[in-house]
Amino acid sequence: MTNRTTATQLVGQDATMPVALAPVGLTGMQSADGEIKAARAAEKFGVPFTLSTMSICSIEDIAEATDAPFWFQLYVMRDEDFVDNIIARAKAAGCSALVLTLDLQILGQRHMDIKNGLTAPPKLTPKTILDLSTKWRWGLQMLGTKRRTFRNIVGHVKSVKDMRQLHSWTAEQFDPKLSWDTVAKIKEKWSGKLILKGILDPDDAQKAVAVGADAIIVSNHGGRQLDGALSAIRVLPSIVAAVGDQIEVHMDSGIRSGQDVLKALALGAKGVMIGRAYIYGLGAMGEAGVTKSLEIIHKELDTTMALCGRRDATQLDRDILLVPEGFEGRWV
Ligand SMILES: Cc1cc2nc3c(=O)[nH]c(=O)nc-3n(C[C@H](O)[C@H](O)[C@H](O)COP(=O)(O)O)c2cc1C
Repeated sequence: MTNRTTATQLVGQDATMPVALAPVGLTGMQSADGEIKAARAAEKFGVPFTLSTMSICSIEDIAEATDAPFWFQLYVMRDEDFVDNIIARAKAAGCSALVLTLDLQILGQRHMDIKNGLTAPPKLTPKTILDLSTKWRWGLQMLGTKRRTFRNIVGHVKSVKDMRQLHSWTAEQFDPKLSWDTVAKIKEKWSGKLILKGILDPDDAQKAVAVGADAIIVSNHGGRQLDGALSAIRVLPSIVAAVGDQIEVHMDSGIRSGQDVLKALALGAKGVMIGRAYIYGLGAMGEAGVTKSLEIIHKELDTTMALCGRRDATQLDRDILLVPEGFEGRWV
């Protein structure tokens, strides 16, 4: 087994598993009460769970269902009352870090969503009805829960009473004028650990240091925002080089295995987040599926470290990798 020292100050987790569950909107549609199931699995495994602003289960739902502090992810939104209120709710729930997402001030073009006609509320067409009829177990579980809307928002914004109003409110909320001043203001309001998510550029990483953030997550939002954007793993080394130990550097986007975790650590990340890797487990097997995905990643990381002759995940370096020439994305 790998050496059990603490991986990072921020995460405060076991070095053998420097993995956190990323914020994934609509997790509670993947499986009924999905955020609660994922948060419980994370708690039992001893890794952080991050709740998305756009989750189905609310901050209060997670706080009630778990004991471990979780992280809350916030989008920078125009409605300041909403932002103030949700920060206060996250504090009241004992959230241990605020993850501020910086790469979704406008929504990327999601070709499959357009092709599949994804809408909120969903349109009932012969195609969707046929599709639903093959997912009857999921449908029954969804009918069995009271959590079927965006519970962080509905009931907390005066103008939002139903899904239709929610859709138009959300569409207006993401503020393309996001600036470092706004980040600084949110940091002041929150006053706890702040993690900035969606950094792909060393200059931005240095600005994150200047603003006093505790950590950054090098991320291209799981490839969902900008086609052609560099992958997180390619820009990671230049970001680590730019900020050194001044801030904790974490990474997500594309982590599917323990070996991927090892590569990120070897290139300088203190920890990683996983999105789809646990969401697929959740969809297949509920809470047990999230646990299974964490177990698989943990085992793969452990085995790969052993086969590389390493015992301590905090002491990895690129000596164990063969990085192809030209792999690293460089910004000029
Ligand atoms: C379906 C889906 C919904 C997501 N929703 C959010 C969100 O609400 N907030 C956020 O900051 N990131 C969101 N993300 C991005 C994830 O937090 C994370 O950056 C990404 O999934 C990492 O890539 P991976 O899926 O390859 O692990 C979402 C990703 C997916 C796949």
